[in-house]
Amino acid sequence: MAAVARAHPNIALVKYWGKADDELIIPAAGSMSMTLDKFATTTSVALTSGSDTFELNGTTADAKATARTTAFLDLVRDLAAQAGLDTAQAGAQVVSSNEGPTAAGMASSASGFAALATAAATAFGVELSSRQLSRLARRGSGSASRSLIDRFAVWHAGTSDATSYAEPISAPDMAMVSVTVNATAKKVSSRDGMTATRDTSPYYQAWIDTTVTTLNEMLAACAAEDFTRIGQLTETHAHRMHAVINASHPPIRYLAPESWQIFEEVTAMRQMGLEAYATADAGPNVVIICRPDDAAAVAARVGAYGQINTFSPGPGAHLVDVA
Ligand code: DP6
Repeated sequence: MAAVARAHPNIALVKYWGKADDELIIPAAGSMSMTLDKFATTTSVALTSGSDTFELNGTTADAKATARTTAFLDLVRDLAAQAGLDTAQAGAQVVSSNEGPTAAGMASSASGFAALATAAATAFGVELSSRQLSRLARRGSGSASRSLIDRFAVWHAGTSDATSYAEPISAPDMAMVSVTVNATAKKVSSRDGMTATRDTSPYYQAWIDTTVTTLNEMLAACAAEDFTRIGQLTETHAHRMHAVINASHPPIRYLAPESWQIFEEVTAMRQMGLEAYATADAGPNVVIICRPDDAAAVAARVGAYGQINTFSPGPGAHLVDVA
C-alpha cells in the first residue's frame, strides 16, 4: 500500500509555547491558528519489508530526522496492531518535499507531520477520523495538529491523548503577509526553547494563564467576526510570548533588530489608518495580519525588510493519491 498526502503550514494567532506532557505532546494551554494556502509539504509513504527510510527535498535525511520519522511511524504501527492489521510489522519508504523556501522559518514541521500522519495512516490501512488524525499529527509536532484543519483551527489543550486535538472554527477572512528577515542569529528549536522557558523563566505560569484567557477572548472575537479585536489580541499575545522566552536563563532571543523595526512599521501603518497587526514565531521573521483588500498595501510598506509572501486561509491536510 502507498499513499500521498499534502499539508500546509499554519501560523498561530494564539501561540502554543509550553508542554504539560513532553512525551504525549499535551500543551499547557490551547492555541488558535490560520492554515496557509502556500508552502505545502507533499509526502508519500510506501510500505516495504525493510526498515524505514526518509528522503527530504531530494536527499536522504540526517540521522536525527530519520529517527524522529521512525518514532512517529511506530505510533502508526501501534495503531495498526491495535486494529489487528498485518501492516503493523511493515517498514515504510517516506519521501517528502517542501514547496516553501528552505529555512524560511515557515513552520515546516507542522505541514510535515500533518502530511506524514495523513499519508501513513492510509498506507498502513488504519482508518482514522479527522480528530484522530489531528491527535496523531500532534505526536510528531504539536503545531501539526492544527495543519489537519481547513482555514482556522483551535487546538484544545485537553488533559490526555484523547482530549488534545484541533478542530475548525469560523473567523473573518483575512490575509497574512510574511516578512522573511535575513538574520544570522543561531536558532534554538521550538522544542528546546519551550523546555528552557518552562524550566527557567519566572513568568512561565503567568504566560500560561494569560494564554488560556486570550484563547477564550480570541474565540469570542472570531465568533463576532471582530477583525480589530482579533488583531489586537494577536499582537499583544505575540509580545507576551517573546517576553516570557526572553526571561529564560540563559536568555533566548528570537527577534532580531529588523523584527522590531517591522513591529514599529506596523504600528505606523495603524496610525495612518492601514489596519494591520504583527506576530512572530520562534525566529526573526514577522507575519502581519490584515484584511484581504489591504494585503498589497501592507506588503509594499515592509518590502525593504526582507522577502515578502502573502497568504490566504488554506486547506487542511488531505490525501492526493492512493495506490
Ligand atoms: C512558536 O509545534 O514546532 O510556532 O511540539 O515541540 O514540535 P513541538 O513544537 P512546535 O512549536 C510551535 C511553536 C510556535 C507557536 C505555534 O505554532 O503555536
